[in-house]
Amino acid sequence: MTSDVLTTGSEKFFKDDEIIVSKTNLKGRITYANRIFLDIAGYKEKDVIGQPHNLIRHPDMPRCIFKLLWDTVQEGKEIFAYVVNRCKNGDHYWVYAHVTPSFDNSGKVTGYHSNRRVPDRKVLDESVIPLYRELKTAEQKSENRKQGLEASQSIVSAFLAEKSMAYDEFVMTLGQGKRRGFR
Ligand SMILES: Cc1cc2nc3c(=O)[nH]c(=O)nc-3n(C[C@H](O)[C@H](O)[C@H](O)COP(=O)(O)O)c2cc1C
Repeated sequence: MTSDVLTTGSEKFFKDDEIIVSKTNLKGRITYANRIFLDIAGYKEKDVIGQPHNLIRHPDMPRCIFKLLWDTVQEGKEIFAYVVNRCKNGDHYWVYAHVTPSFDNSGKVTGYHSNRRVPDRKVLDESVIPLYRELKTAEQKSENRKQGLEASQSIVSAFLAEKSMAYDEFVMTLGQGKRRGFR
């Protein structure tokens, strides 16, 4: 279980001009990881290729965010999301991820691709971390996985309804804050 994995509580950082890249097949098994991915996560290329992407899953991540990610890309759409990942040694790093399907010439989805940039710290501290904590708590309090997912999804819905936004609109607004220099 992911909740049993080792975490150190120690955060790692990457540079503003770096992009952490990975690609997966349709089942979410890693087919490509760039040097920055390997360096920050602390893996060798041979340790990640062919592995499920939850290899770097951090136990603090709410399940409902990954459900939303998969539902979106499987519909052929892109999604932006804040994600905390776990390094091989238990450290963690936050990213702002843009996950997209890859298409062949006939328009068929052949796999998925994620580009991750440095997230905005203020957005993380003020919005994302408190929201994810609330979602994770709701998931853990529930009797089973299904109820947990329903509970956290309804928190996300209420949160978005309050802001009158769809999830990706909300996340894009947050992410663009940094690029446009808003604070
Ligand atoms: C292109 C792509 C990139 C992904 N990147 C990550 C990632 O960086 N970290 C992560 O925990 N999950 C990532 N996922 C989601 C994982 O496939 C998985 O759903 C997630 O780790 C939750 O795993 P679990 O359902 O076993 O708990 C990615 C999925 C895709 C398709």
